[in-house]
Amino acid sequence: MTSFILRSASPAKTKVDAVVVGVLAGEDGVSLADGAQDVASAYGRKLRPLLASLSIKGSLGETTRIPTAGAINAPVLVLVGLGRTPSTADLRRAAGAAARAVPNAATVALALPTPGAAEVRAVTEGWLLGGYRFTAYQRDTATPTDGPGEVVVLTPAARKQEVVDALARAQVVAQSVADCRTWVNTPPGDLTPPLFAEAVQAATAPLAKGRGKVLTVTVHDEVALAEMGCGGILGVGQGSDAPPRLVEITYAPKGLAKDAPHLALVGKGITFDSGGLTIKPATSMHEMKSDMAGAAAVVQATLAIARLGLPLKVSTFVPMAENMVSGNATRPGDVLRLYGGTTVEILNTDAEGRLVLGDALGRAVEVSPDLVVDVATLTGHMVLALGTQVAGVLGTEETVDQVLAAAETAGEAMWPMPIPEEMKQRITSSKVADLAQHDWVRWGGGLFAAAFLREFTGGLPWAHLDIAGPAFASGGPSGHVTSGGTGFAVATLVDLADALVAS
Ligand code: BES
Ligand code: MN
Ligand code: ZN
Repeated sequence: MTSFILRSASPAKTKVDAVVVGVLAGEDGVSLADGAQDVASAYGRKLRPLLASLSIKGSLGETTRIPTAGAINAPVLVLVGLGRTPSTADLRRAAGAAARAVPNAATVALALPTPGAAEVRAVTEGWLLGGYRFTAYQRDTATPTDGPGEVVVLTPAARKQEVVDALARAQVVAQSVADCRTWVNTPPGDLTPPLFAEAVQAATAPLAKGRGKVLTVTVHDEVALAEMGCGGILGVGQGSDAPPRLVEITYAPKGLAKDAPHLALVGKGITFDSGGLTIKPATSMHEMKSDMAGAAAVVQATLAIARLGLPLKVSTFVPMAENMVSGNATRPGDVLRLYGGTTVEILNTDAEGRLVLGDALGRAVEVSPDLVVDVATLTGHMVLALGTQVAGVLGTEETVDQVLAAAETAGEAMWPMPIPEEMKQRITSSKVADLAQHDWVRWGGGLFAAAFLREFTGGLPWAHLDIAGPAFASGGPSGHVTSGGTGFAVATLVDLADALVAS
C-alpha cells in the first residue's frame, strides 16, 4: 500500500529515494517544468549540457533516470517528459510513465507542475495507475514491486482543502480503476458468471452490511432469471456449463434528500465471448475475456461513489453470461423473449451483448432513474470507427453531453456518434419477431446496436458507451494505461455522479 502526503517543500531538499521532475519540450531546447525550480538551480549551469548529452527531448512520457551524486538530497532524479504545453490529461500520462521508471524506490517525491486540485488529482491517479501490475498468475511475485511505501506530492497548494480532498478522492478512484483492471485481466475460466457474481459480492460486502450499510446487493441466479423472464441473459448463457447471473446493486447513502439525483448504470458482463455458433475467428477470440469490462466498470464506479459517500442514488444492473458453443447453444433463427416481453430474432449469436443488455435495461428503467448509462464492449464497428483509444457515446442528447463533459474532466477519450433514422427500419426488419438482433449489413453496426438498445430504455434520458476499443490494451503500457484491462469508464462515471450532485 502506498501512502500519499502533500507538501509544499523544496524537491532538492526532500529526502526520498527518487524525485520526479517534469521536462518541457521547447523551441530552444528542453527545460525543467514548474515545481522543479530548485532542482534546476541545484544543478545550475550543468543542467543544460547534462540534458543535452542524455538527448532528452521532453516528449510526453519519456523517462530518464539519473544518479544525482549529491547534487540534490535524493540519490535518483527521474525526468519525465511533459511535451510543450501539458494538459491535465498529459500530467496523468506522464505521472503514469514515471511510476514505471522507479518501481523499486521505497519513497518518491513528485515535483511536477501541480498548481491546484485538478493537477494533484491527475498526478496521483496517473502514478497509481501507471504502476499497476497484474501478477496473480506469475512466479516471483515476492519481488518488492508493489510501488513505493510513500509518495510525497509536492505542490504549492498543499494546504488548500480542495487539494487535500482531491488527493483522497484520486486514491479512491484509482483503486476502483485498478480493481476493474484486475477483474478484466482474470482468466475467463476463473471468472465465470457465478464466480464474477461472487467476486462482486465480496467486493461490495464491507459496504453492504452493519451500521455503515449503503449498498444492497442482489444476485439473481438462472432460476430467478427464468421467473423474471430475462430471456436474453438466459439465451446467451445457455450454451455454457456456467449458468448466467444478474447482479443488482443499489447505493443509497443515509439521509439522502428526496430530490437527490438517481443514476442507473448497466454494464455488459460477458465473461467470455466465443461468438457462439457464429463463432469468432481465432484472432478475434483470444482477448474476449475482456467482454465483461463494462460490467466491471459500472460495479467499480458504484463502489468508488459509495466509498466517497456522494449524495445521490445509484442503481446498478450487471447481466453476466458466458457466450459459448454447445449442443444447447442458441441458434441463428431462434427467438428470445426479453424482459418485459419484447421478442428478438437471433441472426448472429456473436451479437450477444445487446441481448443481455436488453434485459438489464428493462430492469433499470423500472426503478425510474433520472438517467441511464450503459457501458459495453459492444461492437468491433466502433473500434473500426474510432480506433482503440476512444469510446463512442450514443443516446439522448443531453445525457450524451453530460457523459462527454465527465469524460473530459476524467481524462478519458470519448466521442459522440449518431443513431440515424435508418436504424429504426433495420432493427425492426425481422419477419418473425418484434426486433431483429442483426441484419448482416456491415455498415454502421455500432449505431445499429445502439438503436437496438434504445428500444429498452423506455424513453428515459440515456447514454450508451461502446468501449470495445479502449477497454483492453493489447500492446505495451503507455502513460497511466497499462497493458490488458484498462479500467476505462470508471473515472468518467464517478465524475458524472459528481456532476449530477453539483447540478
Ligand atoms: N464483444 C464483441 C465486440 C468486441 C469486438 C469487443 C472487439 C472488443 C473488441 C461483440 O460481442 C461482438 O462480437 N460484436 C460483433 C457484432 C456483430 C456480429 C453485429 C462485432 O463487432 O463483430
Ligand atoms: Mn460477440
Ligand atoms: Zn461480446
